Amino acid sequence: MPKTKPKTSGSGPTTTGRASFAIAIMAAGKGTRLKSKHPKVLHEVGGKPLLAHVIAAATRVVPARDVYAIIGHEAERVRRAVADTEVNFVLQAEQRGTGHAVVVAGEALKKYDHVLVLSGDAPLISSTTIAKIRDFHRAENAAMTILTARLEDPTGYGRIIRKSAKSDEVEAIVEQKSLQRGQEKIREINSGFYAFRTEPLFQHISDLGTDNAHHEFYLTDMAALLRKAHERVVAIETGDPKEVLGSNTRAELVALDQHLRMAKCLELMAAGATIQYPATCVIDSDIEIGSDTVIEPFVQLLGRTRIGSDCRIRSYSVISNSEIGDEVLIRPGTVMDRSRVADRAIIGPYSHLRPGTEIGESAHVGNFVETKQVKLGKGSRANHLTYLGNADIGADVNVGAGTITCNYDGVNKHQTTIEDGVFVGSDSTLVAPVKIGKGAYIGAASCITEDVPAESLALGRSRQTVKQGWAREKRAQMAAQKAK
Ligand code: UD1
Ligand code: MG
Repeated sequence: MPKTKPKTSGSGPTTTGRASFAIAIMAAGKGTRLKSKHPKVLHEVGGKPLLAHVIAAATRVVPARDVYAIIGHEAERVRRAVADTEVNFVLQAEQRGTGHAVVVAGEALKKYDHVLVLSGDAPLISSTTIAKIRDFHRAENAAMTILTARLEDPTGYGRIIRKSAKSDEVEAIVEQKSLQRGQEKIREINSGFYAFRTEPLFQHISDLGTDNAHHEFYLTDMAALLRKAHERVVAIETGDPKEVLGSNTRAELVALDQHLRMAKCLELMAAGATIQYPATCVIDSDIEIGSDTVIEPFVQLLGRTRIGSDCRIRSYSVISNSEIGDEVLIRPGTVMDRSRVADRAIIGPYSHLRPGTEIGESAHVGNFVETKQVKLGKGSRANHLTYLGNADIGADVNVGAGTITCNYDGVNKHQTTIEDGVFVGSDSTLVAPVKIGKGAYIGAASCITEDVPAESLALGRSRQTVKQGWAREKRAQMAAQKAK
């Protein structure tokens, strides 16, 4: 095993009681089997990168300053994607196997008595299970503790060779490609989650070799190496085999995504929301929903969206990173991004609320209305075929059908202000910057280019002319021409 100089930003051990524990998350691999240009651990399930799930579970067990993410393939992208978690990063510039990943992190990890090693591509792991590995490892006084699972179909995973069926002690882990005849029947698999005492780990890790199918340094070979050195290697079997499922292929990623989303729906329902057909909805991990809110089929709730109580989100709505108050009705086909909707508002069908939209209490936004950087005050209505951009609209305003704020002059965006109680007639164009004073009326089909004082009527259109009998005469003329 080559010695590699580590690059870490570790801040040293936190001692919890008797011994200090670090967590190392292996996340440097490319993920060849996904056939993707993106690094494996940034593939998303439940709306979050694989690695973000594992970090979230890890940081519930030890503080972020004791967590080391081992990154390599597209390291900068991976680091940026999870930078807000404040964990440390170790660079494994060349990915020469899971054993090599741990060697590279050696300098940082040796400061601790123990290290829990997690796989960055198994996002269902829970903090409870990580804590269980730690406690079992401590109680067993082991050099290596392996979390195992019994799977119906163990194909592809490393298999656990126990000393005897009843023993906690493990002789070796055998990778799929090295299985001897008969060993493929072993259903107990290596989850890729371990605890090690750092002293024997780093004393023997340099003995790892690459005499295997991938010519890599396998961390799994530490089981046999430590046994040879008369160290204690034990296994703890998880009660929930799903928790350890890895995501090496697209099909596995989709299966994990579905599992996480269904679990999220069940959690939301347990807290009092109704999700009518969960299998048709796409609900990300961080969504919050209040009690008695109903989510109809084929709804997507993405990012950090929060929805209050007693709301109804009707079918085909896609809502990302938005906040919705209580008793709100979102009618079918609404698209909403980084917007806020206050209590009792009604939105849709087919409304498009773009970033920076703030809809006030009991306001209505109707079909084919698009908003961007808009405040619509309490009780105001924009019900049909309207574009409102860069507008500050007061309370009890009626925005007539087909109203357009002309906010863009080709270079800059300009503001439209509409004060309380204004009535904007249908088919009006408001050329910004412009201000409509309190209680004013805009006649239908007006093009408003100048400010309108409060309580006045503004008309910005040509006067209607009527030519009596013109149509009858025209038709007679045309008929005469045809008869010639
Ligand atoms: C690994 C185990 C296998 C176990 C399975 C559980 C080994 C040799 N095999 O196989 O016994 O059943 O996990 O899911 O460990 N990584 C690095 N640097 C590297 C190589 C990998 O950081 O040089 C990371 C990967 O990004 C990944 C994790 O380590 O997050 C596991 O690697 P992966 O290639 O997925 O191993 P498996 O084939 O799944
Ligand atoms: Mg894997």
